[in-house]
Amino acid sequence: MIIRYSQLVMPQDANVIGTLFGGQMVSWMDISASKAVHRFLKDTDAEVALTRAIDAIEFKEPVYVGNWVNFEARILKTGKSSILIQIDAFKETKSVEKALACTAQFTFVSVKKLDDGSFEKVNHNKSVG
Ligand SMILES: CC(C)(COP(=O)(O)OP(=O)(O)OC[C@H]1O[C@@H](n2cnc3c(N)ncnc32)[C@H](O)[C@@H]1OP(=O)(O)O)[C@@H](O)C(=O)NCCC(=O)NCCS
Repeated sequence: MIIRYSQLVMPQDANVIGTLFGGQMVSWMDISASKAVHRFLKDTDAEVALTRAIDAIEFKEPVYVGNWVNFEARILKTGKSSILIQIDAFKETKSVEKALACTAQFTFVSVKKLDDGSFEKVNHNKSVG
């Protein structure tokens, strides 16, 4: 299943050379992954999940102010508490409908919040299917 999320690149999202700032792209990818994880955990006892690792990130094409970025999230693999999500970010311009701009793999870990405000991993007891 693909979970979708979109953002319009605004001037404040740009870096000093006028293209989308990489840190902003990663932040949106993180939100996109968290949407997929939110859906995945809906019927489990796990309250929430935190980003544990970001791997294999590649910036393939620059994205410009005024472009749309359409994110596609897919859960690739699950462990006891971990969830591995593939995020593909496609730019959409007036002339190009879909061009792969950035890819990454995010590992989230399902957690519960303890009384002291810290987080502890919990098993989500669910596999991808
Ligand atoms: C999330 C957290 C509670 C996990 O607790 P932990 O006791 O360290 O648990 P571990 O990291 O050892 O293991 C959790 C799972 O992640 C996996 N994991 C750990 N490091 C990993 C890595 N670098 N890449 C992929 N998976 C990893 C483990 O294999 C384990 O998987 P499993 O339960 O499916 O077998 C703790 O690491 C934490 O609070 N991290 C900070 C999270 C954060 O602030 N994120 C940014 C804001 S969302």
